Amino acid sequence: MRDTLVEIRNKLDIVDVISSYIPLTKQGKNFFGVCPFHDDTNPSMSVSREKQIYRCFSCGASGTVFTFVQNYEHISFKEALAILAEKAGVKLEGNYAPSKQKTKYEPFYQIYDLSCRIYQNNLQSKMGSKAKEYLKERGIDEEIIKEFEIGLSGATDHQLSDMLTKKGYLEKDLNTLGLVNTRRDMYQNRIMFPLWDSYGRVVAFSGRRYLTEEGSKYVNTKETPIFIKGNMVYNYHRAREEVRLRKNVLVMEGFMDVIRASTANVKNVVALMGTAMTHEQANLIKRLSNNIILSFDGDDAGRHATLVNGEELERLGANVKVLELKDNDDPDTYILKYGAESFQDLIKNAITYRDFKIESLKTGKNFNSDEEKADYINEVIEEASKIKDEIRREIILKNLAIEFNLSYNTLEKRLQELLLKNTEIKEKLVIPTKKPNLKDKYYIAPRAVLYYMIENKKVLEYYQEKGIFFPETKFRTFASEISYIFKKYGIIALADFYTYLSDKEEMLKLLEEIVELDLPDDVKFETVLDYIQVMEKDYRNQEIKRLKDLMKKSPDLKEKEMLFEKIRSLKIGS
Ligand code: CTP
Ligand code: MN
Repeated sequence: MRDTLVEIRNKLDIVDVISSYIPLTKQGKNFFGVCPFHDDTNPSMSVSREKQIYRCFSCGASGTVFTFVQNYEHISFKEALAILAEKAGVKLEGNYAPSKQKTKYEPFYQIYDLSCRIYQNNLQSKMGSKAKEYLKERGIDEEIIKEFEIGLSGATDHQLSDMLTKKGYLEKDLNTLGLVNTRRDMYQNRIMFPLWDSYGRVVAFSGRRYLTEEGSKYVNTKETPIFIKGNMVYNYHRAREEVRLRKNVLVMEGFMDVIRASTANVKNVVALMGTAMTHEQANLIKRLSNNIILSFDGDDAGRHATLVNGEELERLGANVKVLELKDNDDPDTYILKYGAESFQDLIKNAITYRDFKIESLKTGKNFNSDEEKADYINEVIEEASKIKDEIRREIILKNLAIEFNLSYNTLEKRLQELLLKNTEIKEKLVIPTKKPNLKDKYYIAPRAVLYYMIENKKVLEYYQEKGIFFPETKFRTFASEISYIFKKYGIIALADFYTYLSDKEEMLKLLEEIVELDLPDDVKFETVLDYIQVMEKDYRNQEIKRLKDLMKKSPDLKEKEMLFEKIRSLKIGS
C-alpha cells in the first residue's frame, strides 16, 4: 500500500468529508445522516469519527472516505482517490498518479499562463512604476505581488495580442478567451489579478483601474470554455491546505480582502468575487470545509449577503458563523486600520449564523409600535426554535423577556408550539435505534474474533502464538490477511482494511458483515476466549455431523469403527 492511502485517510476526517455531501447530526459518539446509497428519508447512516468509517443500519453499506466518495459520485477508485488526495493536500505518485490527459483546452491554459507572465513582467519593468506606486500605497509589497501573481496590462491596445500571435497562438483563440477583441487587447492600463481554477491554473483575469476613476473599477474576463464565474471561488486551490489545518474556511467578497487577510497570516480564505453565491460555489466551499465563517463587508449589501448565503449554507448542512464588520469596513480596510491581531480576534469571536440572524431582526423595526414589537418577538422565537441547544434557546428567551418586560412563560409557550411544529415536520426523521443482534452465536463468534484481532493487539498475538481454529476457509483466509497486514505495516486501523481488501470481494463482504455487527470495543480478553470456544464447538459439531454421515454410508466395518472412535474423541473435547 498503500502508505499514500493511509496518509490520505489519516489527514482527512470522515465526518468532514461526508458532511460535505450530506448533512450529519451528532448523536452521542457518532454522527447520523440519511443514507445516500438506498432510497430513504431516515437518518440510518452512522459515521464514526473514532473509527473513520460509515455504515448504514438499513442497507448495510459501510466503508471509508474512499468508498463513500466513489459510490456517491459514481466514479472509479482512482478518481475518488484524486479528489481526496487533493483535499488532503497529498501528492499522488506512481500507480496512483492521475493520468495526465491533455484536454483539448490545453492551448487555452497555455495562453493564460503566458499572458499572466507577460502581465507580471510588465509590472516589474519600467512601465510598471506608477502601478507599483499605487500598490505600495495600498500596502501591497513585492512579496504579495509575487504570491498572488499580480501583473499589469500594457499601455497600448496590442501588446498582448502581438506577443501571443508572434508565438503562434491563434487570434481566434485569443478572442474566444476574452483577451482580445477585433485585434485589440481587452485590457489596457489595468492592474491584473489572475483568477485560478481549483487546480491552480490561471483561467481568467480581473483588471483594476488605477490611473483614473473612470470606467468600471474591475473588469473581469467574460465567460469562456475554461471560465464560468459562478463555478469558481477565488483562492480555492491555495486555501485548501490551510483550511485543512485550521478546520474552517473564511468566505469574503473580494480578492483584495483575501490578499490582505493573507498578509495577516489568515490564509484559509476564499472569495466569491461579489456578494452573490451560486449553488456551485456553495458546494465548492462546503467541500473545503463544513465549518464556514462568512466575512463580508460591513455595509448593508454585506449584511444582506450574510443573511442570504448563511441561510443557504445552513440549509446544505454547514456550520455557519459570522464575522461582523462595522462602519462600512471590508476585511481589507479593517486589517489596514486595526491590524492583523485585531482581525484574528474577530475570527475567534465570530458568532453563530443564527445569533447573527436574530440580531439582524431588529433593523428597520419601530419599537414604538406594539405590532412591530410583537412581530419582532415572534420572529426571534421562531429563529430560536431552529437552534438545537436547549440552553441557548433559554438564554435567548430570557433576554427577550427582560428586554420587553414579558413573562418568560408566555414566550416559552410560543416556543414549545413552534418546536412541536418542527418535530412534526421532522417526525419521520428519527434516528433508528440500534437493531438487536438477532444473528445466531455461531454466526457472530468467528466474525467477533476477527474483529478483535484487528482491534485488540492481545488477540492478534494470541492468534500468532497459539493459533485460533476457524470453522471455515474464508475466516482462516481473513485471519491470515490480518496477521500479514500487521506484520507488514505495523499498526493499522480498521478503516484501512477496506482499502487493503478492496480488490478481494469475498473478504470485503466479510468485513462488512463484521462491521455491521457493531461490536463493543472495550471487552475483556476472556470474552474473546469465549467466542473462540463457541467457534471451536461449532467446528466440532460440524465435524461430528460429517463423520456420522460418513459412518452411516461406509460399508467397511473397520472404517466404521475408526470413525466411531474419532467421533467419540471429538465429543470428549466438547
Ligand atoms: N467586483 C467586480 N466588478 C466590480 C466591482 C466588484 O467584479 N465592478 C467584484 C470583484 O471580484 C471584487 C468583489 O466584487 O473583488 C468585491 O467588490 P468590492 O467590495 O467593490 O471590491 P474591493 O475588494 O473593496 O476592492 P477595492 O478595495 O480595490 O476597491
Ligand atoms: Mn470591498
